[in-house]
Amino acid sequence: MKTDRLDAPRVALGVSGGIAAYKACELLRRFTESGHQVTVVPTAAALHFVGEATWAALSGRPAAVETWENVHEVPHVRIGQQADLVVVAPATADLLAKAAHGLADDLLTNTLLTARCPVVFAPAMHTEMWEHPATQENVATLRRRGAVVLEPAVGRLTGVDTGKGRLPDPGAIFEACRRVLARGVREPDLTGKHVVISAGGTREPLDPVRYLGNHSSGKQGYALAATAAARGARVTLLSANATLPDPAGVDVVHVSTALELREAALKACADADAVVMAAAVADFRPAEYATGKIKKKDGVDPAPVALVRNPDILAELSAHRARPGQLVVGFAAETDEVLANGRAKLARKGCDLLVVNEVGGGKAFGQDVNAAVLLGADGTETEIPEGPKETLAETVWDAVVARLG
Ligand code: C5P
Repeated sequence: MKTDRLDAPRVALGVSGGIAAYKACELLRRFTESGHQVTVVPTAAALHFVGEATWAALSGRPAAVETWENVHEVPHVRIGQQADLVVVAPATADLLAKAAHGLADDLLTNTLLTARCPVVFAPAMHTEMWEHPATQENVATLRRRGAVVLEPAVGRLTGVDTGKGRLPDPGAIFEACRRVLARGVREPDLTGKHVVISAGGTREPLDPVRYLGNHSSGKQGYALAATAAARGARVTLLSANATLPDPAGVDVVHVSTALELREAALKACADADAVVMAAAVADFRPAEYATGKIKKKDGVDPAPVALVRNPDILAELSAHRARPGQLVVGFAAETDEVLANGRAKLARKGCDLLVVNEVGGGKAFGQDVNAAVLLGADGTETEIPEGPKETLAETVWDAVVARLG
């Protein structure tokens, strides 16, 4: 049996009855190995997939299975009341329905009703079940009440079928929970909002093997996506060539060129409350695309590469807001005259907020930390000292929330 540190965050890990229950073992390991105190609350159906002994061994404490066991300790209210975080992974369609309607016919649903801490649901089910209006309404109800319901991942389901409904990767669920825990019981202030974020760097092909690209890793855009999901937003992440794992609960659209990014952005922004263009978009693309690999010829200098301008997506989104009040945020990487160039760019692009980074000399690109100044079209100027990209992301969302009202 484990001896827990008194200050160890207390997590109630609910597991409902889906095949993805076995992946909750990996999630549990991540919690315990990083010093969390976890009580596993499996439903009766979950125990068909993974037995009580596994949960007890991995958590270092008995699994909380029965409402009628240890009644003197009042487990049906105690676990929820004492938890710093309740996470249900996997959350089946049935569990989501019970939670949305406040049913309390087992220990897990009792725990959900008594919890006053943040609650995260990581759904897993077949695509048809996820898309059913009943499930979608239940998810909307839970989100409206402040729970964080992660979007399921797309991929292979139980059998041969594939689609949306896979449990997000346990590592990604863990990261989402860590972020929610760090925020504490603050209201998820982006609940009901749809935010679109671009991340990474575009690639403009010259021929089938070569492209013009840039050094953007996508880390800042991914941090924006993960933090927005933790604050309750529905998130669409337009990922341009980033090789990072999909953040849990986020709809990821993969694109490569600036033209593809523009098309995806216009589509996703149609009903967005806010859009953050964190991607490094190539200003130019080769005028010609060679369908075969361009060969070198002995004694002949290569022909210069002619370039044409790419559309400025940020300027276009700012000029033609898809809905009234839609907030547009840009990023600017500058090497000198950072603030003056940033102010000029904010005016030129017509966006509401601009995050100005100083780059070059190993700064920002590919790093886990970033420093910036957040400029507002209303004249505000917020210094963001060097820190994790998540911290910068939170500051951007604070500014967005303040302006969305
Ligand atoms: O003009 P500059 O490339 O410095 O502007 C950077 C900002 O504009 C970023 O938010 C980037 O995503 C966006 N951008 C764009 N379309 C382009 C070039 C940049 O949306 N063609």
